[in-house]
Amino acid sequence: MPTIYIDSTGERFEQTEQHDCMLRAGLNAGLGLAYECNSGGCGSCKFELLEGEVEVLWAEAPALTERDIKKGRKLACQCRAKTDLVVKMRTDPRYLPGPVPGRFLATLQARHEITADITEFRFRGPQPARFLPGQYAMLSLEDGLGPRAYSMSNLPNEDGIWEFWIRRKPGGQVSEGLFARLRPGDRAWLDGPYGLAYLRSEVPRDVLCIAGGSGISPMLSIARAVATSPAMADRKVHFFFGGRTPEDLCGITELQALPDFAERLDHCPAISMPESSPGWDGAVGFIHDIAQARLGERLPQFECYLAGPPPMVQATARMLQVSQVPPGQIHYDPFY
Ligand code: FES
Repeated sequence: MPTIYIDSTGERFEQTEQHDCMLRAGLNAGLGLAYECNSGGCGSCKFELLEGEVEVLWAEAPALTERDIKKGRKLACQCRAKTDLVVKMRTDPRYLPGPVPGRFLATLQARHEITADITEFRFRGPQPARFLPGQYAMLSLEDGLGPRAYSMSNLPNEDGIWEFWIRRKPGGQVSEGLFARLRPGDRAWLDGPYGLAYLRSEVPRDVLCIAGGSGISPMLSIARAVATSPAMADRKVHFFFGGRTPEDLCGITELQALPDFAERLDHCPAISMPESSPGWDGAVGFIHDIAQARLGERLPQFECYLAGPPPMVQATARMLQVSQVPPGQIHYDPFY
């Protein structure tokens, strides 16, 4: 079992058989290794290998630039240690904001279709499900398919239930595999929780959620937490959710079931393709434009959470910055 020694801090951790990469081995050991996307896209987990040998899992990961490659930098989320290592990597306790993540086998209890391309997968793990609303877990099948990051839609619970609203991505190897093969009673690996776009329950500001597509999943978890947490009883939620057509819009029943829905939750669903949706009389346009038009100068008053397809999240983050929302109030996990 290789041991990884972090030269800059003097910390060390082991990578067991169960760990599929160095990054998650370190986080599972309770060390705050720097990361964001967990999937080779953001570059936050870059490290320098000073001694030892690693197996590179994805050599073409987009987060590595030519310069990184020349300098021998690697990604902790895309490497496994083959021998004991000495490395130089960033750590900070802010990368472990809540429960220490772990990897475990969970059983699929049920799945049901939410829209034509989003399905809820409901797993039960062996321990209570501990996570912060807005976080995600890495999901992989026992035959090795995956891992992929998917956000939980439910709340932490003692029953070990982890629910995910997953979008079937046409041509996406992992989501196509999950949809085709995973049936109730089957087992899958879950590894989590991860993610920094979690609900800041201590912040006294009202909450703004802006989501598209399967980004509905973590936003549902956040809205559920605000609605049911006594400590957040004075907080309101503005919930913007965009789809192409009305058939894409989902989560409405779940939001309406929340306590004090009418008083505390301002829900704005919108579509971007009105030409395919005769009879739609709701909001039309890109969801970030609609949020900006509706909230305008009030935007800096909110704690903002974003999730959805990368172009939508990037456009929304830009809109919030231009609207003078301080960067520390904008939360999203960058899955490029
Ligand atoms: Fe490794 Fe994003 S966490 S590249």
